[in-house]
Amino acid sequence: MQGLLEGKVALITGAGSGVGRAACLLFAEHGAKVIAVDVNADNAAATVAMVRAEGGEAIAAACDVADPASVDGAVAAGVEAFGRLDCIYNNAGVTISPIPGKGLRTLVECEGEDMRRVAEVNVMGVIHGCQSAIRQFERQGEGGAIVSTASVAGLIGYGGVFYGATKGAVVQLTRALAVEVADKGIRVNAVCPAGMLTHYAGMDPDSAHRDRILEGMGRAHPLGRAIDPRDTASAALFLCSDLASNITGVNLPVDGGLSAGRKVGG
Ligand SMILES: NC(=O)c1ccc[n+]([C@@H]2O[C@H](COP(=O)([O-])OP(=O)(O)OC[C@H]3O[C@@H](n4cnc5c(N)ncnc54)[C@H](O)[C@@H]3O)[C@@H](O)[C@H]2O)c1
Repeated sequence: MQGLLEGKVALITGAGSGVGRAACLLFAEHGAKVIAVDVNADNAAATVAMVRAEGGEAIAAACDVADPASVDGAVAAGVEAFGRLDCIYNNAGVTISPIPGKGLRTLVECEGEDMRRVAEVNVMGVIHGCQSAIRQFERQGEGGAIVSTASVAGLIGYGGVFYGATKGAVVQLTRALAVEVADKGIRVNAVCPAGMLTHYAGMDPDSAHRDRILEGMGRAHPLGRAIDPRDTASAALFLCSDLASNITGVNLPVDGGLSAGRKVGG
């Protein structure tokens, strides 16, 4: 079977864990040459080893998406290795540190430095990825695809308010940027997952209670199943691929129907 990204070069941020790692494996399985980018260089290298073990092509780049020069460096390293860039998946993200033993912070419980860090990674990190990729796409003159990981928390009131505000910014960036760069053949979309059991927010995907946790997460969704990182990576794969060649400005929920509404009665 022909892969959906055969011959394309894709840069994926947050590649050392969770959704980013799942996306590196899936994109490579579909023929992409992958630039696996993470602030944690060891974890990015571990992802690359997993991709290569499956017969895929990938390189790792250490990069802090909050730093524009670091993002430019990762794009340059990818272009040097693979000759071009076709897609960027801005997936790296962090959340406000939970209160030990209590969990999510209310807005008034959020603290300055923590809020600044989350905004710098979740909003500025995505913006830096977009800027750097657009400059490279313009140099190539053949368009390109941008996908970002927002969240269902950017679409509805769901969980942490400050975090949701940063993801809402990504949702709006996606629409406005899609319109701005459409005439260059650049498509801009986002995926909006509901809760997934990853290393995010101090969770443990290898927890002994994994099955029980996933069952609880799934109960919140009309479809009744927890979201897997691969579900989110699959939506990003579609949006990066030519199957989505006439789709731009879309924020695609990957939430088992959570943001669609609630069943009344029965
Ligand atoms: N897990 C969830 O419940 C959930 C729900 C909705 C949206 N999301 C979003 O999904 C995305 C992926 O999260 P995940 O669940 O895979 O979490 P994760 O913690 O497993 O993975 C996030 C990765 O991003 C990397 N990272 C963090 N800051 C970075 C930076 N400044 N520069 C580069 N890399 C950085 C981390 O090192 C880590 O490898 C995030 O944008 C997150 O906000 C997660």
